[in-house]
Amino acid sequence: MTITQNALSTYKLLKATAKVAEESLEGRIQHYRAHIKSDEKELRTYTQKAAADLLGCNNRTLKRRHDQGDFDHLDIKKGANGHYAYTLSNIYQMADIMGIPADNRTADDKLQVIVVNSLKGGCGKTTSLVNIAAALATTNIKRYRIGIIDLDPQGSSTSFFPPAEPDPITVGDLMRDCIDLEDGETWEEVVSSAFVTTHIPNIRFLPSGMDDFYFEHETATQLKEGKGYEVSQHYHKLLDKVIKPVEDQFDIILIDTAPSLNFMFYNALMASTSMLIPVHPEAVDFDANNKYLKRLGEIYHTVAALGHNGWDFMQFLVTNYVKGNHSQRDIVKDVRSAFGRQVMSYPINHSSAITASSSSFNTIFDQKTSDSLASRESLIKSQENIKDVVDELEMLIRSNWSSTQCQLETA
Ligand SMILES: Nc1ncnc2c1ncn2[C@@H]1O[C@H](COP(=O)(O)OP(=O)(O)OP(=O)(O)O)[C@@H](O)[C@H]1O
Ligand SMILES: [Mg+2]
Repeated sequence: MTITQNALSTYKLLKATAKVAEESLEGRIQHYRAHIKSDEKELRTYTQKAAADLLGCNNRTLKRRHDQGDFDHLDIKKGANGHYAYTLSNIYQMADIMGIPADNRTADDKLQVIVVNSLKGGCGKTTSLVNIAAALATTNIKRYRIGIIDLDPQGSSTSFFPPAEPDPITVGDLMRDCIDLEDGETWEEVVSSAFVTTHIPNIRFLPSGMDDFYFEHETATQLKEGKGYEVSQHYHKLLDKVIKPVEDQFDIILIDTAPSLNFMFYNALMASTSMLIPVHPEAVDFDANNKYLKRLGEIYHTVAALGHNGWDFMQFLVTNYVKGNHSQRDIVKDVRSAFGRQVMSYPINHSSAITASSSSFNTIFDQKTSDSLASRESLIKSQENIKDVVDELEMLIRSNWSSTQCQLETA
């Protein structure tokens, strides 16, 4: 097949555009790294009062424990004001010393794999996911072991949890069989190390990379070659190669997805135990959402036929909701009357604190109120809002863990 002159010019233009894009992307990464001052992000520290609140005790109890020397062996720093500035890791260690047990699933309780997806781009998938994960990890003392998988090669959530290594193992690398095992190394070890630790203790992150796009191409090629499902297993890659090998290491895995019904998405569905669908309440977004829902059933049928076991819950989450906006309120009303209890009770409200923190790839739980670019009031309000959402999500999650259920014994 010959390529026409015009097509060649278009190709050259695209190559030149790619070069400029790459350079400006590199510039942006440098700028971002400079912004966070080092490759290592740091989570906010907690005052004694905040630490006591988290530990469910009062200030005096903590003070007494300090006086008794119970925490002397911990590396607890003091701030410029001479007061303790506890890291979340310090607080977790203090909880251990104080005999406050972690409150997570037992081996008999099912790992929760929650997929956040909508076909509508920009509806708040990534923003909701990273803030929900941060709230789950930092606003209670339960010490959930949380994994996040960025299944969107655009890497938006990866920007919130930037890996220290310049060239980390990505979820696509694992799904595409790009990794050669070293002598004596097991696949479980490789996958486990690919879930890198983050600035938030108890959150480990499996990043995406641009090359993860090749998964689509390679899968399509395999299908063209007519390999049967027994051989290709192309909807089971995420479940079998990435999640099953490390399932004992996590209580909750959250999966961020691209706004696309591609092979990666089928993999997310196959691995999912639940689904969270963000809905931005604007008319155009809502229409797109309804079209998406029509397709979702058909797609789900495919994964069900290949062995998926059904969801524990499927919830709609209203996102970026502007309070007082009449048209948004009407749409939310419609969503609630159509989908009833499957809509989360609280929307995630539009917040200047989320806008401000997202611009530097932080969640609203990463920063101290004094460090936020938004007002203290807006940050606190937004944190309270996300905590309300997370309380309900936690209830849905925990209703699948029989060990954490209150047993009402019949007399
Ligand atoms: N609650 C909110 N308050 C303020 N801004 C928000 C809120 N939720 C989302 N946004 C903003 O909306 C934009 C799109 O959000 P986000 O990137 O999370 O969407 P997405 O669904 O992940 O997009 P994509 O489909 O491209 O992956 C971002 O600029 C984000 O900061
Ligand atoms: Mg996104």
